[in-house]
Amino acid sequence: MTKPNQNNDLMDKIVSLTKQRGFIFPSSEIYGGFANTWDYGPLGVELKNNIKRKWWRRFVHGREDIVGIDASLIMNPKVWEASGHLKNFTDPLVDCKKCHKRFRADHLLESSSIKPDLGTMKELPKELKECPECGGELTSVRKFNLMFKTFVGPVEDDSSVAFLRPETAQAMFVDFKNVVDSTRTGFPFGIAQIGKAFRNEITPGNFTFRTREFEQMEIEYFIPEKDWKKYFEHWLNEMKDWIKSLGIDEKEVVYREIEKDELAHYSKRTVDIDFMFPFGQDELYGLAYRTDYDLKSHAKLSGQDLSYLNPQTNEKFIPHVIEPTWGVDRTLLAVLVSSYTEEEAPTADGKTEKRVVLKLPKDLAPYQVAILPLSKKEELSKPARELANKLRDYFSVNYDETQSIGRRYRRQDEIGTPCCVTFDFETLKDKAVTVRDRDSMKQERIKIEELVDYLKKKL
Ligand code: GAP
Repeated sequence: MTKPNQNNDLMDKIVSLTKQRGFIFPSSEIYGGFANTWDYGPLGVELKNNIKRKWWRRFVHGREDIVGIDASLIMNPKVWEASGHLKNFTDPLVDCKKCHKRFRADHLLESSSIKPDLGTMKELPKELKECPECGGELTSVRKFNLMFKTFVGPVEDDSSVAFLRPETAQAMFVDFKNVVDSTRTGFPFGIAQIGKAFRNEITPGNFTFRTREFEQMEIEYFIPEKDWKKYFEHWLNEMKDWIKSLGIDEKEVVYREIEKDELAHYSKRTVDIDFMFPFGQDELYGLAYRTDYDLKSHAKLSGQDLSYLNPQTNEKFIPHVIEPTWGVDRTLLAVLVSSYTEEEAPTADGKTEKRVVLKLPKDLAPYQVAILPLSKKEELSKPARELANKLRDYFSVNYDETQSIGRRYRRQDEIGTPCCVTFDFETLKDKAVTVRDRDSMKQERIKIEELVDYLKKKL
């Protein structure tokens, strides 16, 4: 649950900037939107893809012990029986009898500093049985399964019920045998996946923080039981390094050990990694020791042998699992919050004005380079476009010839472009351009023939 850290002003600015500049739009907006659903626009999809690419490069391509998969969103419903989601993936829900709004009973208790007992909770204490919105009476607590139900095929009956996956993780267990049989992974090894997950959240909100459709980046890392503590520490450090690589200040991150009685049904140890969002401290990522719970459950229900035969020792066993899990949308939100900066910048007439800069890590910026000809005249725009096309072989490039150069710099600052390249009339003579650095605003004159190498070094 979110702990207060109210900075609504910053959140409003981020929501407004991301809409105006094409990062994130309310979904289905021409129809009045659709509660708590968001679409990533032209710049948002670039930022999101850069995050996913960075993660894949680091944890899949960058390591010899991890391979990736891309599994179906709708799996055999038995998967969710074995995983425990059908029985346990519930939130405690109360309804207001008057205004019919729904609330998480555990959140109501926590906001009054009462620790909820999720297993046995049936009624809220008397003093909390009032609706926080309208004062109406709240119902008893009931369990609400968060999985989205659907029907597969033309007949809508019990035999065709299926679910949209609530986590990407289960596919890594279900595909475990196929991966082991088809690849030459050593041991320990991991299976990674990036993809959508769906949860019918009772209380979505806080922009893209809690939505019903979101993306996860998950790794199931298969290990011998005796080494679980060692690998838990390994993954905690990997996650710390990843957070650093996003430009997120360590001071904004809290590592929260989950107490024994609050652990998920499959976990023996979990650390939640919280971030200080403008609306409060809340979960960014999680790290769990899932034991051999999942492989054992799937082996039992499917009747398949899901043990691993170590070719070196001839030992056969069901591996244990460490699961580091990352939310893509929460990563993007935390990166936006961390990189949003307002500062005073000098203007051409010797005064200063406020500039908004997204100080995004250079490898995440939607555009790495902007080409800005000083004039729209063909004399400049033609060679400037040619230069932009040449740079596209190496970098993501934005070409912009509208408005004054000052306004174009501000726009590029607001979308986090690290380098602006100005193409002026002098360029036609000296075959050089001016490169402006987003953060220092320093400008350097660089020969066009040296530009690619110069930008490669900078980026
Ligand atoms: N396989 C383990 C698992 O799914 P989780 O803590 O429920 O664990 C993992 O989810 C991550 O997915 C979270 O740390 C968060 O980043 C992201 N996440 C979970 N629910 C979300 C939601 N409703 N909206 C956006 N992101 C969510």
